[in-house]
Amino acid sequence: MTESQTMGVFGAGWVGLVTGGCFAELGHHVIVRDVVPDRIAALQAGRLPFHEPDLPEVLARNHERIRYTLDAGELVDADALFVCVQTPPTYSGDADLSFVWSALDDLPRGERRQILVMKSTVPVGTGEKVRAALEARGLTNVGYVSNPEFLAEGTAVRDFMNPDRIVIGAADPQDAAFVEALYSGIETPIVQTDVASAEMIKLAANAFLSTRISFINEIANVCELVGADVESVAQGVGLDHRLGPHFFRAGVGWGGSCFGKDVSALKQLAGNSGYHFQLLAAVIEVNELQKRRVIAKLEKHLGKLRGKTIAVLGLAFKPNTDDLRDAPSLVISSRLLAEGAAVRTWDPVADARERLRGATQCDTVLDAVRDADAAVIVTEWDELRGLASEEVRAAMARPLIIDGRNLLDPGAARRAGFAYEGVGRQSSAFETLPETAEPEERVSS
Ligand SMILES: NC(=O)c1ccc[n+]([C@@H]2O[C@H](COP(=O)([O-])OP(=O)(O)OC[C@H]3O[C@@H](n4cnc5c(N)ncnc54)[C@H](O)[C@@H]3O)[C@@H](O)[C@H]2O)c1
Repeated sequence: MTESQTMGVFGAGWVGLVTGGCFAELGHHVIVRDVVPDRIAALQAGRLPFHEPDLPEVLARNHERIRYTLDAGELVDADALFVCVQTPPTYSGDADLSFVWSALDDLPRGERRQILVMKSTVPVGTGEKVRAALEARGLTNVGYVSNPEFLAEGTAVRDFMNPDRIVIGAADPQDAAFVEALYSGIETPIVQTDVASAEMIKLAANAFLSTRISFINEIANVCELVGADVESVAQGVGLDHRLGPHFFRAGVGWGGSCFGKDVSALKQLAGNSGYHFQLLAAVIEVNELQKRRVIAKLEKHLGKLRGKTIAVLGLAFKPNTDDLRDAPSLVISSRLLAEGAAVRTWDPVADARERLRGATQCDTVLDAVRDADAAVIVTEWDELRGLASEEVRAAMARPLIIDGRNLLDPGAARRAGFAYEGVGRQSSAFETLPETAEPEERVSS
């Protein structure tokens, strides 16, 4: 039986709200503090500020144990203070810790001992700096634990409640035991270690997941040249129990708020410490090029893209989220616009109107593909599984599908009358496709 504690959470983003909601589900009392008034007002009114399956239900079910505030002073009686603020990249690729420092500035000064728990992803060595900063502020009764978070957007609640492991890094074993007890009710291996190792576990995990994706993408690119099918290759390789099938799907590359910044932060951390992390440099470069290969594939079929209309299907960096941070769709769409193409986008939940000002965001897939010279699948939304339909073919100016997620059956797409090009799969013949209307007509329609 969980002993109920009171905890404060800094940050009402993906990690903060999932952490708060799930700890409330485990029986704790939670106060979530953010600095954005609209965000707190929305939460107080029962509205989630972003799309995340199951989270609205968890927050509603536990509303009596969760409150939301702008006032950090309300966290003064909390037993643990979870830091879940953003740590975006700086121009140099290092992690920007300014939001972490601002949370430290806001720590309430109380009489009781509190434990500061770092869930934000931070560079190795941050724990040491935070401890020094706490001492410099005279907050000697505040303990420190690193407890990195491994949830994935789209499945965040499930991931939090059923994690593969919980990592707890602490200098003081009592602080570690306290944080471990907060999770009682969740059955999973606990990795207890020092703070620096806990910080490194998170960075290394994300770097390795990204490496797997860049690796299979490189295999896919070679498959295209030598006539192999990466889907079969990935299946055959992934069934090896030493390797496993996860994060081994070829596509247009990884995105999201974490991989890019964490891989870059680890590379910079190594560089700042005097070590050139060659492998990660390649992992990042492969990912950048992978997004751009879509443009080359379109040009192979359509020639110059100026004046062509391209439907970009799926904007979120992955399905079941509306998160656009570092989404491949933004790079692909921006490249298309730079080439002079007209870009029509569609996504069931993400809104990219602000970020892609030159593109037209459509409400339906059919609207997006109407009069298009090609449709590019960028996010593997279920709604796109039926894309190779008669209705879509009739709506398009040219029946070309570039499947950036290998979502469709190539044979079925071709039988339905489409020229089809996936990633690491045999492509349709390289002929320039016939046009069914004048380009000018289509651009203006
Ligand atoms: N999103 C993920 O999938 C994920 C998964 C694992 C780890 N992480 C890490 O967790 C951290 C948070 O990520 P996120 O996606 O939840 O970020 P987010 O941008 O969605 O949310 C951060 C929130 O913190 C708030 N904030 C900033 N300064 C604050 C302060 N002083 N006090 C209170 N609130 C403050 C912001 O207003 C924002 O609402 C990052 O370090 C990220 O790398 C994220």
